[in-house]
Amino acid sequence: MYLGLDLGTSGLKGLLIDDTQTVIGLASAPLDGTRPHDGWSEQDPLSWITACESVLDQLAAKFPTELAALRGIGLSGHMHGATILGADDAPLRPCILWNDTRSHAEAAELDAMPEFRKISGNIVFPGFTAPKLLWVQRNEPEVFAKVHKVLLPKDYLRLWLSGEYISDMSDSAGTSWLDVAKRDWSDVLLHATGLDRSHMPNLVEGSAVGGQLRAEHAQRWGIPSGVPIAGGAGDNAASAIGMGTIATGQAFVSLGTSGVLFAANDSYLPKPESAVHTFCHALPDTWHQMGVILSATDSLNWYSRIVGKSPAELTSTLGDLAAPGNALFLPYLGGERTPHNDAEIRGAFLNLSHTDDQASLTRAVLEGVGFALRDNMEALRSAGTEISNLLAVGGGSLSNYWLQVLATTLDTAIDVPVDGDFGAALGAARLGLMAGSGASPDSVCTVPEIDHTVGPNKNLTAAFSDAYHSYTSAYPALKGA
Ligand code: XUL
Repeated sequence: MYLGLDLGTSGLKGLLIDDTQTVIGLASAPLDGTRPHDGWSEQDPLSWITACESVLDQLAAKFPTELAALRGIGLSGHMHGATILGADDAPLRPCILWNDTRSHAEAAELDAMPEFRKISGNIVFPGFTAPKLLWVQRNEPEVFAKVHKVLLPKDYLRLWLSGEYISDMSDSAGTSWLDVAKRDWSDVLLHATGLDRSHMPNLVEGSAVGGQLRAEHAQRWGIPSGVPIAGGAGDNAASAIGMGTIATGQAFVSLGTSGVLFAANDSYLPKPESAVHTFCHALPDTWHQMGVILSATDSLNWYSRIVGKSPAELTSTLGDLAAPGNALFLPYLGGERTPHNDAEIRGAFLNLSHTDDQASLTRAVLEGVGFALRDNMEALRSAGTEISNLLAVGGGSLSNYWLQVLATTLDTAIDVPVDGDFGAALGAARLGLMAGSGASPDSVCTVPEIDHTVGPNKNLTAAFSDAYHSYTSAYPALKGA
């Protein structure tokens, strides 16, 4: 038995699989965040522990025999969050999350130092960890003075589970402090933000052992003492492990809170100027590229809160795929990463008319996210990655209408796995399996069974392409506004 724990932005999931990777059980606990100011996004690290306790309680109640046979745990988590700990390992302030853009000035400042793009292989985005620490240094000097360790969210959970400061390569690549080619912390980049290696966790590969479960937790939930915890991965690399996206030519699209177009690479291919992210993958000697948009299901959730209907209610009544109308939605609710790297841009509905109604605006929201992902496809293409086929993952992929929008906008077939929502939790469990059993990545990271494929609607690709071009011309106009 192996357990994957996936710390998502809106909830923590625990997925139990057996040696043949059959899903035995799933438990989850919700999480919320706060947005104290425009562009800010925070979460209380202690709420991750409460959520993890709840997930383990639920699993222990339903699957005691299986937990007693656990041989490995894997962790996945939302990336880039600055979890800042004092000498007693207590968080000094709420975690500053991946979709928090308050440190855009600090990010631009670091990004202007040539060593950052050269060593980290990426633009220093405001959502990444290093500029957040510079922001804390300037705005909360009393907090900065007490920094003992800076951990990524899943690694704070690991500290609670195992008592150790450890991270993996894929998640650490999103800090702007990692030398992504060498898979090691960069002293130069750490010094630029007033830190050094002593503030960082030790590094392991995602599929290697990175800590053991503490005896007190083992006893509490009836798990064998000392069960190995895998290095794990940032949620996108973890999803890739779950979807078998591990070699050049394989790619997926994720419709989660954020939207991601992810391609695996056998070699390190940085192209920072395209705003594509180039990170270590969760397996040794592999890397990946991805385009990231900040508000995917977050856009639909925002609209659903305003109209007072659930996302499922809004999307399930749309019927067959229709050509885009005039209404255009730009999903930049909290700024954007790929391709604009623009923390200050905000979203918009454009070209509204008397004939627009709830359904047409729902379609515009789904289309706007689709167009933003097409922008990402173009950015990946400019970085040398051609995508010919995609797997779908994430909560938004439960909407068939949305998948049709994506397939038609991207003019690419999208395979929908039988269990589309398991991505990152399954990936975490697979990393736990590799760390616990020594099984090889090729034997573990198979492509999931495909339930169905959503192809582009060829009658509508031209209409979607035209609407995409209106979308791309709207950004400069909005920026000038
Ligand atoms: C990736 C990113 C997001 C978060 C979402 O760079 O910021 O995908 O990992 O959880």
